[in-house]
Amino acid sequence: MPEAPLLERRAPLLELRGLGKRFGGLVVIDDLSTTLRPGELLGVVGPNGAGKSTLFGLIAGDLRPDAGSVIFDGSDVTSLREARRCRAGIGRTYQIPLPFAGMTVFENVLVGATHGRKARGRAAYQLGQRALDTVGLLPKANEQAANLGLLDRKRLEMARALATDPRLLLLDEVAGGLTEPEVQELMATIAQVRSRGMAIIWIEHIVDALLSVVDRLLCLAAGRVLMEGDPAAVLASREVQEVYLGTTEAGPLPGQDAAGPADPNSADPDSADQDRRS
Ligand SMILES: Nc1ncnc2c1ncn2[C@@H]1O[C@H](COP(=O)(O)OP(=O)(O)OP(=O)(O)O)[C@@H](O)[C@H]1O
Ligand SMILES: [Mg+2]
Repeated sequence: MPEAPLLERRAPLLELRGLGKRFGGLVVIDDLSTTLRPGELLGVVGPNGAGKSTLFGLIAGDLRPDAGSVIFDGSDVTSLREARRCRAGIGRTYQIPLPFAGMTVFENVLVGATHGRKARGRAAYQLGQRALDTVGLLPKANEQAANLGLLDRKRLEMARALATDPRLLLLDEVAGGLTEPEVQELMATIAQVRSRGMAIIWIEHIVDALLSVVDRLLCLAAGRVLMEGDPAAVLASREVQEVYLGTTEAGPLPGQDAAGPADPNSADPDSADQDRRS
């Protein structure tokens, strides 16, 4: 029998077992199970409201599931709070970047390093500096975060998560609302982060961007895994075409330049607070 590729043979970094989440009467995540290997890059697509950001909340710990469990690096973290999970190695970005506007860019990433990683002194400084360097924000380290444009806010959101030194990075539509060259820049950053061996789950409506880098693609619909596996096979499946790509809510098809969904990322940053779901 041929040997499985190295990636396949390693123990899972993350296991989601039968996760369920409802808000009042609304079932948002429904018996969802999947696994992620160390160093794997999993793309997640799905219609608006499919439960993608909610899923991140359940993994990162700002939401508690009504059913199922979250296993990270062999330990059941389901009952751990967000801060504990962050220190265990789960870092996340939010769909709507919300930097600490009254702080500088560097102070923002120091919050990630000191609170998210419990790093102190020189170690915190180095984590922050490396995170800013990775996303290309080092030249703006001393600028007020409030003055950043959308691309830089997205970069800072990533840098703040990176400064927590995660083993799993959750990216929620980091490319949403950006121009094509800006998306390319972010993709290069993600590829660089990935080359360090960090596992990544990346939710994105820009299917072209996802397809060029992910190992595996998962399509979420109505809180359930509609299909997961080889990215091209997932996108080619009739069900995924109907539920996601065939709807007007879907983002641009690969190779097309259609208008994407109404994008909360491009909203006025000052009004973003109401939109952030956590
Ligand atoms: N805190 C909350 N309270 C009540 N309902 C919520 C809450 N957070 C999310 N929802 C609802 O759960 C459903 C899934 O929301 P979620 O944000 O996870 O979707 P999504 O797949 O990330 O969508 P999008 O592509 O628009 O970002 C939606 O119907 C949403 O209105
Ligand atoms: Mg979302």
